[in-house]
Amino acid sequence: MAAVIQSKLVWAVYLLHLLLLISIHGSTSDSISSEGFCAVNSGSDCGLPSPYTKILIKGGTVVNAHRKEVADVYIEDGVILSVRPNIRIPDENIKIIDATRKYVMPGGIDPHTHLDMEFMGTATIDDFFTGHAAALAGGTTMNIDFVIPINGNLTAGFEAYKHKASKAAMDYGFHVAITKWDEDVSKDMEVMVRDHGINSFKFFMAYKGALMVNDDLLLEGLKKCKSLGALTMVHAENGDAVVEGQNRMIDLGITGPEGHALSRPPVLEAEATARAIRLAAFVNTPLYVVHVMSIDAMEEIAKAKKAGQRVVGEPVVSGLVLDDSWLWHPDFTTASKYVMSPPIRELGHGQALQAALSTGTLQLVGTDHCTFNSTQKAFGLHDFRKIPNGVNGLEERMHVLWDAMVETGKINIMDYVRITSTECARIFNIYPKKGAILEGSDADIIILNPNASFEVSATSHHSRSDTNVYEGRIGKGKVEVTISRGRVVWENDVLNVMPGSGKYIKMPPFSYLFDGIDKSDAAYLSSLRAPVKRANAAS
Ligand code: URP
Ligand code: ZN
Ligand code: ZN
Repeated sequence: MAAVIQSKLVWAVYLLHLLLLISIHGSTSDSISSEGFCAVNSGSDCGLPSPYTKILIKGGTVVNAHRKEVADVYIEDGVILSVRPNIRIPDENIKIIDATRKYVMPGGIDPHTHLDMEFMGTATIDDFFTGHAAALAGGTTMNIDFVIPINGNLTAGFEAYKHKASKAAMDYGFHVAITKWDEDVSKDMEVMVRDHGINSFKFFMAYKGALMVNDDLLLEGLKKCKSLGALTMVHAENGDAVVEGQNRMIDLGITGPEGHALSRPPVLEAEATARAIRLAAFVNTPLYVVHVMSIDAMEEIAKAKKAGQRVVGEPVVSGLVLDDSWLWHPDFTTASKYVMSPPIRELGHGQALQAALSTGTLQLVGTDHCTFNSTQKAFGLHDFRKIPNGVNGLEERMHVLWDAMVETGKINIMDYVRITSTECARIFNIYPKKGAILEGSDADIIILNPNASFEVSATSHHSRSDTNVYEGRIGKGKVEVTISRGRVVWENDVLNVMPGSGKYIKMPPFSYLFDGIDKSDAAYLSSLRAPVKRANAAS
């Protein structure tokens, strides 16, 4: 009897929150204070109250990056308590989910998004609420976004993003971009790592006159990152040559979206990738190359890895499954939605990037979700240089990758978990709290039905954008359930998310990529056989 009353009470509280949720959902959420920004393990109650704090997933195939097994998964208060066959819990307040003939996997982690980012005279259309809603509906339970400094100032940028993220609906972390160099920036990088859980900094080698850095700055950044145990990330394109390429297209009278691809060919991506790799080798620090879009850039990474260098290559879904023919589409709205940098390449590059992913040359998949609607894209109707750069993907990544790579037999299911979740958690040093279905891991879990299918459309997606670069794509494999920190947020095609329920995940420095760097530094120093002591040196 007591249990029934308790259960009714829980439902009443839940309905009340649903009402609140509906009212918040309809608003722009701009009024939400930064109190929703909570540090992980802070003990504060940041989550959405749910009727079930206990969930038992029965009979599914539990897939981790290292093994798969038929087992039940028991979750309590947002944490996985047990993973083993035939779990029985005699408690009627448990939600039981039947996952028979389905895969139970860690929720996706997207290492590369731009939510609520001011860029090219406008701001991305998805904020931390709509972006997270889209992500959860597609099986992604954490993203790592990029803090853009304000006038080069990291602290001001971080505070601004903290506020933007107060409407987060799932867990998230931050990388911080470096756009200028002075003593303050150098000191602020220390503060970011020590106090704010930042363990990666990004350097844009393109976007001249806006975010771009030169080699001098990149070198300073590489040295500083190394000293802090933070990962150096690069957007690798030769920004000076891109401007030259853009001018060349305009001089030729090519002003449409195809001019975007023509002005920044693979050679400019390969050159910058090679340059960043060599500078990282010179400093002896790990390097992470974001959005690897071409065979040319991928081969530079392959060469470096073969030589033993620690270089991580991140392809993005658009680069893996789309090709540049869309940029020649006669309809501007259609063509412009595919404008991103580096550009989506000719047919053939995507297949080669998929192959590199399957063999480990490239390690994890992001989206670079940076969405602008058709009105924003039309800023560049008469000049492709003014089309805001970026495509969607946060909601589609898990589905499109499953269909393109698992369904076709290019990778196995454990590799799928590795490239969509586990590898990201390892690189950014939050494994096995994230990226695994293990006892003690956060209960960020998806249930995928390999026999169901998905279909992408701007009319049904959860992004605010009115377009979708995967429009009309149909494929096998559907995320039927998403659990975020122990709450069922996506089930029966219904999304139940609340702004402010996501938690900030602090990421500690010195990931596995830094193991042994001190030893190779010592080996380097002893190899110098210098300074040579000469008898006449002083004369
Ligand atoms: O086109 C892109 N990639 N937009 C987002 C900014 C960036 O370069 O990552
Ligand atoms: Zn970029
Ligand atoms: Zn990006």
